[in-house]
Amino acid sequence: MVAQEAPVGVFDSGVGGLSVLREIRKQLPHEHLIFLADQAHVPYGPRSLAEVRSFSEAITRYLLDQDAKLIVVACNAASAAALQSLRQTFSNVPFVGMEPAVKPAAETTDSGVVGVLATPATFQGKLYASVVERFANGVRLLPNPCIGLVEQIEAGKLNGGQTHAILENALAPMLAEGIDTVVLGCTHYPFVIPQIEQIVGPQVRVIDPAPAIARQVGRLLKEHDLVNAADSLGKLQFKTSGDAAALSRQITQLLEADHPAEKLNWHGNTLK
Ligand code: DGL
Repeated sequence: MVAQEAPVGVFDSGVGGLSVLREIRKQLPHEHLIFLADQAHVPYGPRSLAEVRSFSEAITRYLLDQDAKLIVVACNAASAAALQSLRQTFSNVPFVGMEPAVKPAAETTDSGVVGVLATPATFQGKLYASVVERFANGVRLLPNPCIGLVEQIEAGKLNGGQTHAILENALAPMLAEGIDTVVLGCTHYPFVIPQIEQIVGPQVRVIDPAPAIARQVGRLLKEHDLVNAADSLGKLQFKTSGDAAALSRQITQLLEADHPAEKLNWHGNTLK
């Protein structure tokens, strides 16, 4: 296969990565995309970094076997756990990872107080500490791990009472401290932006990093001479280590588009 015509691989623990995929599709419609959700293991957030690293390595091997020319780690938890080691292990592969968007938040906040919604794994990782150290720049960051929110979004309960309660519990104390910005440090959370906005009101800015991530994918493809020059729409493939029919229904709900999904299985440390 000509390298330029190879697909971009995108993975997450679950449907969160679809919020990134949707932006890549919007900005780079000619690229073929393979999306892989490791729903046998979702959520990653409460797991140890070592475990998430081992899943991420195996998923990367699978995507490279499918000829992926670039890999998007569309998961903050997996990026925190594995991005550095993935870049070392697969040194000839370009990777794009996620990190909580503390930099743009710190650059634009007026009140100097910023809320960060992520998961426990992301807050534990060195990546978050390094982002804070490099970019917080005197801004007060209020982190919240939103325990249980990923599960609610996986279950499609975007408007459920529990979803609302988790968000209210996280955001009300932040509002009391004077936040004017909320950073979404988990790729699942953009699917509840309307619910977040309902709680924080129009004066608080909510930052979804997906558009910036998609721009970075475009930049890296150019830099590595990997842009697909075709002018037809790229092919989309969806795969899950969980239930394929369920992922297909989730795609219909979250992306308002119908796509079949393929079931993969874990065999020890290998995904097939
Ligand atoms: N969507 C992921 C993230 O960005 C993972 C969430 C989870 O599985 O806990 O962190």
